[in-house]
Amino acid sequence: MPHNDITLRAARASDLPALLALEAQFPGDRMSARQFRRHLCSASARMQVALRGDTPIGASLLFFRAGSGSVRLYSLIVAASARGQGIGARLLADAEQAARDRGCRCMRLEVRVDNAAAIALYQRAGYIRFDEAPGYYHDGVAALRMQREL
Ligand SMILES: CC(C)(COP(=O)(O)OP(=O)(O)OC[C@H]1O[C@@H](n2cnc3c(N)ncnc32)[C@H](O)[C@@H]1OP(=O)(O)O)[C@@H](O)C(=O)NCCC(=O)NCCS
Repeated sequence: MPHNDITLRAARASDLPALLALEAQFPGDRMSARQFRRHLCSASARMQVALRGDTPIGASLLFFRAGSGSVRLYSLIVAASARGQGIGARLLADAEQAARDRGCRCMRLEVRVDNAAAIALYQRAGYIRFDEAPGYYHDGVAALRMQREL
């Protein structure tokens, strides 16, 4: 299915069950319901969801830091059944535009060195590796630190 039937909007508390279910598809450090709620209310966080109809099928989460020209992409996820349709790239472009709108000049992120799909997406979007953090994830896998000038 093409991704032009997808809409993006700010995440709401009512999205929580769907967002937790999405997270559960992705093995790794899980976000708790409490963390989600905190991010929804936080001025330094921006959580956006991608919807097909009324159903959240993807999400992005940005963290801003006061006085910093750099923003962190903390999370980007697309439902397993909706991958490969450009939705991740669209969520990423949307997050970048929101960061530009807030005056940020650089987006940074961490990604598992074994996450080929995400690394390919970020490279295609112009991110470059600037560092590697050994043992960054709970299972001991290293993170690539990547960034892109906005
Ligand atoms: C990474 C993820 C968000 C990509 O979402 P997606 O909607 O499938 O990605 P898109 O369809 O927008 O793909 C955009 C580009 O990324 C790359 N890409 C995406 N999936 C890929 C895969 N499985 N293998 C290789 N490249 C891939 C391609 O370059 C693709 O462009 P192309 O299709 O024109 O070649 C998705 O796989 C996901 O949710 N994974 C689990 C969570 C995760 O790993 N998040 C990132 C944590 S840092």
